[in-house]
Amino acid sequence: MGKIPKSEHNDRRELIHLLHDIQEKHGYIPPEAIFVIARKLRITESEIYGVLTFYKGFSLTPRGKHLVTICMGTACHVRGAPRILDEFSRRLNIEPGKTTEDKQFTLETVNCVGACALGPIAITDGKYQGQLKTTDVAKLVDGIRDGDAEGS
Ligand code: FES
Repeated sequence: MGKIPKSEHNDRRELIHLLHDIQEKHGYIPPEAIFVIARKLRITESEIYGVLTFYKGFSLTPRGKHLVTICMGTACHVRGAPRILDEFSRRLNIEPGKTTEDKQFTLETVNCVGACALGPIAITDGKYQGQLKTTDVAKLVDGIRDGDAEGS
């Protein structure tokens, strides 16, 4: 009996696994890595770019040390997410989608993280911060900076 060919599903799983490893190591997916993976898995670079654009968790540009993601889904939006986003933007002095010059913070938006009842929500370094008010933003940013200061 012949060998069962690897399914497309497994290929995609392996690809996503590799991309996760690279992103964890570098903070983003460098173009050289896409070239190497394409050769390793015998797929085209455009297939990889397709996966990278489908899964919002991957970044093609270097991110800051700390990732701040604001949910802009409908439920969070009506509960004041735009004001929370503006406040983060003002405090960090960057537009959404950008990274601070000192490479400490990246500010991103997402559409619904599935915790609508807790909106508006920010996710700071993977931690969900629910029912945010604009007055909480300074405390969150300072807390992250203080955490770095303590760790150094
Ligand atoms: S809209 Fe923000 S968690 Fe659903």
